[in-house]
Formats: sequence, C-alpha cells, structure tokens
Amino acid sequence: MRLVAWQAADLLRHLDAAISVYGQAMGYPQDLLETRKGYVAAHAHRPDFRAVATLGEGDELLGFGYGYLSAPGQWWHDQVAGALRREQRRWWLTDCFELVELHVRPDAQGHGLGARQLAALLTGPRQRTVVLSTPEADETRSRAWRLYRRFFFSDVLRHFYFPGDDRPFAVLGRQLPLSDLPS
Ligand SMILES: CC(C)(COP(=O)(O)OP(=O)(O)OC[C@H]1O[C@@H](n2cnc3c(N)ncnc32)[C@H](O)[C@@H]1OP(=O)(O)O)[C@@H](O)C(=O)NCCC(=O)NCCS
Repeated sequence: MRLVAWQAADLLRHLDAAISVYGQAMGYPQDLLETRKGYVAAHAHRPDFRAVATLGEGDELLGFGYGYLSAPGQWWHDQVAGALRREQRRWWLTDCFELVELHVRPDAQGHGLGARQLAALLTGPRQRTVVLSTPEADETRSRAWRLYRRFFFSDVLRHFYFPGDDRPFAVLGRQLPLSDLPS
C-alpha cells in the first residue's frame, strides 16, 4: 500500500474510482453519487486544492481525501458562516482549509489508512485552521469521529442541518499546523 499526493488532474483522471470508494464508504446510492461526481470535478479547480490517495497492490484505489481554501461564495462556506456568530466566523473561517472528503474503502478500514491520509492532507496547507463537516454519530462508535478527536478536532457547530439534507451534521475544526499530535 502506498500513500500518494494527487494533483487536480489525478483526481479527475480517477474520478470514477474515487466516487466508487466514496459511495462504498458512505453507503450512498448510485443516483446521489452521479450528482456528487459533478461537484467533486468542480472542487478540483478550487484554490489551494490538496489531495491524497492510498493505492493498493495493482494500484487500485483504497482511499482518498481532499480539501481547498474555504472562501465566501462557496456553498458550504456560506452555510457554515451563516450559522456562526461574528467572532466565531472570524476565528474559524477567515483563513481556513476545508477538508471536503476523506474516505477509505470499507474492506481497507481499520488499519490506519484514514489517519495517514488525514495527516498528509493537513501537513502543508498554509491556512490557520481546518474545518470539516461530518454526520452526527456516537463519538465512541464512529470511526470517523474517533479519528477526528484523535487529531484534536473540536466542535464548531453541532446538530447543524444543511439545506436539502435531513441529517444532522457536526462541523469540527482545529488550528494548523498539526504540531500537537503524538508521533
Ligand atoms: C473515517 C475513515 C476515513 C477513517 O479511515 P480508517 O482507515 O478506517 O481509520 P483510521 O486511520 O482511524 O484507522 C482505524 C483504526 O485502525 C487502528 N490502526 C490499526 N493499525 C494501525 C496503524 N498501523 N496505524 C494507525 N492506526 C492503526 C487505529 O487505531 C484506528 O482505531 P479505531 O478505529 O478503533 O479508532 C474511514 O473509516 C471511512 O472512510 N469511513 C466512512 C466514511 C466517513 O465517515 N468519512 C468521513 C466523513 S466526513
């Protein structure tokens, strides 16, 4: 298994495989994935785009993640900004890297690949904070939540509803760089 940095062109070239990993990891239906594909392709062109992938033997895609500069005018940024008080907004969003996707194929989970992808993505952005959203879940049972807490993400918003989605989400964030993590 190897972890590689992806440029925007790499994500676009492997878009079908990435969407398939995403669908398997999140358990999403095909119709939703088709819509998501268009968004992911557009995200690859955003400023300060950074992506990583984990490849298995034969170079099949086992996992990937990406993010970019979070900025006004982006749908996610504007939703989160609108729900924060002015000081919170200033603290979290004025110089912020949005971690947009982080997924590992279910049969490859539980071996530290997600943690390696996350550490690689968050080593290098020049922004002062990183912020992400993830479905609300039992923090002790959800692998994603355990991972984010292990990386010292704290609550920015809890039980937040994005328009058009009836699931509650948490918005989590932390300061960069990652100098406080145990090696
Ligand atoms: C969240 C997700 C990316 C995490 O990836 P992962 O590879 O499964 O998770 P981790 O890197 O945390 O490793 C999982 C476990 O392996 C353990 N582990 C085993 N061997 C390891 C090693 N060599 N190095 C590090 N950790 C190791 C870790 O301690 C961790 O334990 P835990 O799950 O009990 O906390 C992945 O589970 C996933 O895609 N989930 C579904 C989609 C999702 O929720 N994505 C995030 C939405 S915002």
